[in-house]
Amino acid sequence: ELDAAEVRFQKRIDDGIRVEPQDWMPDRYRKTLIRQISQHAHSEIVGQLPEGNWITRAPSLKRKAILLAKVQDEAGHGLYLYSAAETLGISRDQMVDDLHSGKAKYSSIFNYPTLTWADVGAIGWLVDGSAIMNQIPLCRCSYGPYSRAMIRVCKEEAFHMRQGYDMLMSLCRGTPEQKQMAQDALNRWWWPSLMMFGPPDADSVHSEQSKQWKIKLFTNDELRQKMVDQTVPQAEYLGLTIPDADLKWNAERGHYDYGAIDWEEFYNVVKGNGPCNRERIATRKKAWDDGEWFREALVAHADKKSKSKLQ
Ligand code: 3HC
Repeated sequence: ELDAAEVRFQKRIDDGIRVEPQDWMPDRYRKTLIRQISQHAHSEIVGQLPEGNWITRAPSLKRKAILLAKVQDEAGHGLYLYSAAETLGISRDQMVDDLHSGKAKYSSIFNYPTLTWADVGAIGWLVDGSAIMNQIPLCRCSYGPYSRAMIRVCKEEAFHMRQGYDMLMSLCRGTPEQKQMAQDALNRWWWPSLMMFGPPDADSVHSEQSKQWKIKLFTNDELRQKMVDQTVPQAEYLGLTIPDADLKWNAERGHYDYGAIDWEEFYNVVKGNGPCNRERIATRKKAWDDGEWFREALVAHADKKSKSKLQ
């Protein structure tokens, strides 16, 4: 049963009025945004690791420079999102603590290994492609700081997806071995990329409330379907085969029908048993510990500066 304040709040949401940090909001609204935005930020930061380990092994200076720019962008996306989450009253340290303790999630997709250079292309095309599909609607979500952060993120993600697709285009036009490398990467990244959109709508615990609060503008399955419909022609253009024997255009629906997703694998990875979960968290913990001295120096410098201003 909603009380009067929540009824007024829902009316503002229904009227498309953005919620700003200083506005009154139901605790549950605040909590679900802290959950989603902090986990989104963690995804960006952990998302740097899979492709980061190819920066030193990029096949050309051009590809190295592009990959460096992309990984650096992801760090920036993480910072925008941590800042957006801080406007809701949670501290950066608390969020980082929750990631390291396993209390907070990050996107399942980043627990898979990047075995060849083609994986870097598949990540740009499929992972950033799925991220864009999910993030475009978030530019219009009801919480001001989150929607504004998304506008900048989406501009940069467009470059991430294009550079990945361009890389696969080069491989597919290269030697048979290079094309096979691209096909192998598609085989390994296709299904985990579809899992990024979250569990099927029937199993999504937050969707209904998030839709009512205009945090989620489309359901998990609606965005997943849009991603499949968009990506099949792109794979055909590359001359690659999508690893799904049940994939078929359904003229009646106006969409592609596709095969069953292995949700057991999904929940297993989310629970922490994916190929790289432990390595990813260990790497983040080490980076955090190694950076302690730098954070302390920044704070000491800031304190000194603010003291000198007061004199
Ligand atoms: N990986 C890990 N956990 C996932 C998940 C995934 N792919 N999909 C869903 N979950 C979790 C949810 O977080 C929730 O658990 P929680 O209550 O502990 O948070 C549970 O599964 C149930 O899922 P729901 O559908 O009910 O949850 P949501 O309504 O939050 O929907 C979501 C999940 C669609 C991922 C939504 O949280 C969202 O839109 N988040 C913002 C976008 C985001 O985080 N994208 C991740 C990728 S970012 C990225 O790819 C960076 C790019 O630059 C490379």
